[in-house]
Amino acid sequence: MLTMLPLPATEVPLLDQDERPCYLDSAATSLKPRAVIDRITRFYAEENAPVHRGVYELSQRATDLYEQARRTVAAFVGADPEGLVFTRGTTEGLNLVARAWAEEHLKPGDELIASPQEHHSNFIPWQEVARRTGATLHFAPLRANGTLDLDGTLALIGRRTKLVAMAHVSNVLGIENPAREVFAAAKAVGAVTVLDGAQSVPTRPVDVADLECDALAFSAHKMLGPTGIGALAVRPALLEQMTVYQTGGGMIERVAVEGTTFLDGFARYEAGTPNAAGAVGFAAACDYLDTLTYDGRDGMEAVAAYEHAWGQHAANQVRAIEGVRLIGPPDDCDVEGGIVALQMDGLHPHDLAVLLDAQGVMCRAGHHCTMPLHAHLSDSGAHPATSLRASAYVYNTLDDADRLAEALRFAHKALTRRTVAAG
Ligand SMILES: Cc1ncc(COP(=O)(O)O)c(C=O)c1O
Repeated sequence: MLTMLPLPATEVPLLDQDERPCYLDSAATSLKPRAVIDRITRFYAEENAPVHRGVYELSQRATDLYEQARRTVAAFVGADPEGLVFTRGTTEGLNLVARAWAEEHLKPGDELIASPQEHHSNFIPWQEVARRTGATLHFAPLRANGTLDLDGTLALIGRRTKLVAMAHVSNVLGIENPAREVFAAAKAVGAVTVLDGAQSVPTRPVDVADLECDALAFSAHKMLGPTGIGALAVRPALLEQMTVYQTGGGMIERVAVEGTTFLDGFARYEAGTPNAAGAVGFAAACDYLDTLTYDGRDGMEAVAAYEHAWGQHAANQVRAIEGVRLIGPPDDCDVEGGIVALQMDGLHPHDLAVLLDAQGVMCRAGHHCTMPLHAHLSDSGAHPATSLRASAYVYNTLDDADRLAEALRFAHKALTRRTVAAG
């Protein structure tokens, strides 16, 4: 059955209230539809058992569900299920590559590339790799508006480059980075390519094969799924080169006082009792996203088209408000998705967020785990070191964008009144 976008409030329990909440913080975490909540409840009520550990039927069935979830999540991003490692989320996936591959293979003289635009999860792990191995971390140059300088980035890639890490979509600017071009150049010199898909996998079709990426990390909770589970889709060649990351149950071949041997493949990186309910919920979220439809498109094409329409509507409204400056999308960039990041003259983003909340509009304020990006925007003279971010997903209506604009106008009026009174 197909579901038209935007999702009706009846599909999303948290929105199904007399006064519909205006939740605009989905780039942080999405709300959950009834279909996903019900699937997780059913797992716990009827199917719960340890996976890969029991010979009884209930355990075998839970194992089958867990492995079916791996195939569903892998197919969602065009990955080989044999290379799909379930993680706690994007952060753990990126740290896994840093610890299990980069720290084992890099040495002084080697080079890594990341950019100051990155979420801290795709920035600090590479800083740590450089600190621990003696390799050099180069930062891809950004333009004044925070977007990637492609020529400058390509110029950094050379025969010493061993790893290039990049966000597919910025969680502040809402803009897609030229990952395909950068990764093609990185592969040409034999470097490992790591894509942070935290904001792209939930919002558009993503195909790992198409992107020349060796490892793609993403989180279920940003795409209608549960918290505490994510995936790292790894190319077989890289998976083979990775070493043990965490040790314990489920990932061993033989343990003896003389020493331990480990399983191969994804199992080597899933130590401990797996989050089976999370995996089943994650797969239910992927299946649900595939049923969505909008403007003649289906699945993730529909999600991307709807996000674009919402973002366009919101950005047009917000740009017209006195005293507001958009950081994301930057003024000279087209709207791509449902992220609008801004700053209002004379009002700290935290105070602005409180004023919006008082009008029932929930937005995030702060650095959004991108301190280097905010510092860059600030250094370039254009913006302060924090911002307010409104981010929409498949359940937000255009009316939510109007409510945001109205609340911003109200905040600006309140500020002007206060300034005039004080003057
Ligand atoms: C671009 C980006 N990368 C990484 C992350 C980290 O994701 P998680 O907290 O689910 O590990 C986020 C979360 O906001 C993000 O937006």
